[in-house]
Parts: sequence; C-alpha cells; structure tokens
Amino acid sequence: MTHPIIKDLNTRYTTKKYDATKRISAQDIEIIKQSIHLSASSINSQPWKFIVLESDEAKQRFHNTFANMFQFNQPHAKEASHTILFAYNPRFTKEQYKKVVDAEVTSGHLPAERYNDMLDGAFGFAELNTDETGFNGNWTKAQTYIALGNTLHTLARLGIASTPMEGVDAQLIGEEFKQELDGYVCDFALAMGYHKEGEDYNHGLPKARLPFEDVVTTL
Ligand SMILES: Cc1cc2nc3c(=O)[nH]c(=O)nc-3n(C[C@H](O)[C@H](O)[C@H](O)COP(=O)(O)O)c2cc1C
Repeated sequence: MTHPIIKDLNTRYTTKKYDATKRISAQDIEIIKQSIHLSASSINSQPWKFIVLESDEAKQRFHNTFANMFQFNQPHAKEASHTILFAYNPRFTKEQYKKVVDAEVTSGHLPAERYNDMLDGAFGFAELNTDETGFNGNWTKAQTYIALGNTLHTLARLGIASTPMEGVDAQLIGEEFKQELDGYVCDFALAMGYHKEGEDYNHGLPKARLPFEDVVTTL
C-alpha cells in the first residue's frame, strides 16, 4: 500500500544509535509538544505529565539514572536530541478530575449545566479501575501509552527517529526527577533525534510483524 500514512509507519523504526551532532529544530519540537498535549485519554482524564529533556544538564540527570540497569539504552540519554519522560499519576482522584471538567466547560466543549453529570458519571470509569487503597496506576499508565503511540506517529510524519524505552529505571528516575514528577511515576521514556549513519544496526531493516490475518479480523 502506498498511502502516506502506511509509508510513514513503515519508515519509522526504533533507532539504536543517535548522531549526537544533529538536533531537532525548535519548530519540530513545538509540533511534538503540541501533538502530545492533544493526545486522547479515557474520560479525557489526562492523568499524565510529559517532561521534555533538552538541556545538557537534564540529559546528564537522565544519564545518571542508568547506573544500575538497562545500560543498553543509556547512550541515547546524551546522544539523542531530546528525550521525553512519560509519567502517570498513580492515584488519580475525583478532586483532580474537577480540573478536567472545569476545562470542559471553559473551553465550550461541555455545557455548564452538565458539569456534575460528567464529574459523577464519567469518573465512574476511573473508580472501576481504582483499588481500595486509591491506586489506579494501571489505568492511568495505559492512558499515557496512548500519548506514546500518538507521538510515535507524529515523529514518523516529521521524519524524526525515535526509541521508545521501557528499559529505564523507574526508581532512579523517581529520585532524580522527584521535584518535576511531583508524585507521578515514569516507567517509560522516548528518545528522539536522528540516527547515526552506518552505526545504527536497526536502520533500513524490514518491518517484522505477525501475519496481518493473525491480528486483524474484519467481521
Ligand atoms: C512500550 C515500548 C517499550 C520499548 N522499550 C524498548 C527499549 O527499552 N529499548 C529498545 O531499544 N527498544 C524498545 N522498544 C522498541 C521495540 O522493540 C520495537 O518498537 C519493536 O521491536 C518494533 O520495531 P519498530 O519500532 O522498529 O517498528 C520498545 C517499544 C515500545 C512500544
């Protein structure tokens, strides 16, 4: 298929080596940030924070978090142009959800008289996914992965290379970025930039996907 969307998604791939001399333009970074901000989430909960690491100091701090594990991803911390830390709120509360419903009304998306319908009704989805201690991190983390998928597609469109990384140390990231995370949890990150010619073994390889018929059923 030659549709541009399919071409983009066939061309994007997980980069294994970055060219440290190449930087994403300020204009493209702005598009990436706006795109991530527009990601969809269940009940529009947006239980996330995205921390964009751009400065050398921020990259060094991220680099430090590979002290104990996943060192195969560590070079990206400094060689990639930017990295985004994807973080989720492990205890998303109804009180916090009020901010979303406020935005629903002030944006003109929700009539003011329906404020309580949304607050009480929609939040039921969060409650269904909340345990007796108030933990709903499995659900909020799932929302954050939607933003990852959205960002991967945006990067594909922009022709920017990337590496989604679950191979990060959530505990050390939690300590190093404690202040910025403010109680949120980062279990995965996304390095972005431009691959290093000749040194990125993953570049140019064909896609390896399960047979289409095994995973897509049309009824
Ligand atoms: C959530 C997630 C976590 C991943 N974690 C890592 C990682 O830590 N390091 C790495 O090199 N690749 C990682 N990958 C890349 C996958 O291995 C890769 O997406 C998959 O093999 C498909 O290949 P493609 O991205 O080149 O199409 C991750 C991908 C996703 C979506």
